[in-house]
Amino acid sequence: MAEGTPDKAEILRWLHENDPAQLEELWRRADDVRRAHVGDDVHLRGLVEISNYCARQCSYCGIRAGNRNLSRYRMAADEVVACAEQARDLGYGTVVLQSGEDDGLTLEWVAALVTRIKETTALAVTLSLGERAPAELHAWRTAGADRYLLRFETSNAALFKAIHPPRPGRALSRLELLRELRKLGYEVGSGVMVGIPGQTYDDLAADLLLFRELDLDMIGVGPYIPHPTTPLAAAAPAAGDVPADDLTTYKMVALARLMCPAANIPSTTALATINQAEGRELGLRRGANVLMPNLTPARYRTLYEIYPDKASLHEAAGGGYADLPSWLAAMGRRVGAGPGGRRR
Ligand code: 5AD
Repeated sequence: MAEGTPDKAEILRWLHENDPAQLEELWRRADDVRRAHVGDDVHLRGLVEISNYCARQCSYCGIRAGNRNLSRYRMAADEVVACAEQARDLGYGTVVLQSGEDDGLTLEWVAALVTRIKETTALAVTLSLGERAPAELHAWRTAGADRYLLRFETSNAALFKAIHPPRPGRALSRLELLRELRKLGYEVGSGVMVGIPGQTYDDLAADLLLFRELDLDMIGVGPYIPHPTTPLAAAAPAAGDVPADDLTTYKMVALARLMCPAANIPSTTALATINQAEGRELGLRRGANVLMPNLTPARYRTLYEIYPDKASLHEAAGGGYADLPSWLAAMGRRVGAGPGGRRR
């Protein structure tokens, strides 16, 4: 198949291709484009799951408001700062603060937290706090936040609405928020889940075209993993649905790299969860250039269960990545220095 940015027809051909020999060409192209545009550095982002409170009712997510049997936590600012210092001491360039959509994380509290982290470390600060008001996003950017992650989950508007009930009173859609984040000067990350019940190959092709249209700086793609306490876990797969497997996720990672050559693309925890033996490595070999070691304190980590048996539960505190430099070197890669922002 042709080199260059794939069009919709070529994307669909790759998504339907299941011959390992043919797929070698896709993996090679993704790896070549990755090397040419972002090099061999693998950037490490320390992930801190700062709160599992959530106001939303997403039918796929284990920390949805409707899950009454989950103990809720919100980390203290001092605890979050200690995690950021740990990320710095481990040599990471970025800390990612993630949470459910938690109204208890106020504009002022988050702004003060960002200010403190920027004062005490040289880390890039990425926020992933859900759909928040433009005034909040503006204040946090002013406080020094560099990046924001907000997956659009699927470009199929009807499917998105079905799995992500709207919250009354919210003025902007997720796509509008992504454009707002760009205007505010954030590096903007988004992404999708692969294999949502009701999701088709056409939907995945549209997701990839939207990655390019949005000119995303960061793209996270992981398989959908059913959580037994959620309504979507009971959904029966239909004919024509995309499988929520690792092969389809590798194809999406590789195609995301071809669509957005300079983007930062993580090999995600969800991918490492469904293929514990080699998901993380094959993600990096097929287009990804980022890892997000989990730095959430152990007592909170088990409560941030967006899907079951997250691979990060097996990681030690401190990231559990003692052998990372040699593991990467064996792949011809190395730990990236500095914040590892999008090259423009
Ligand atoms: N399976 C896989 N990924 C999930 N996420 C939430 N719930 C699940 C699940 N059950 C992903 C969403 C969200 C990100 C933080 O985690 O894509 O944006």
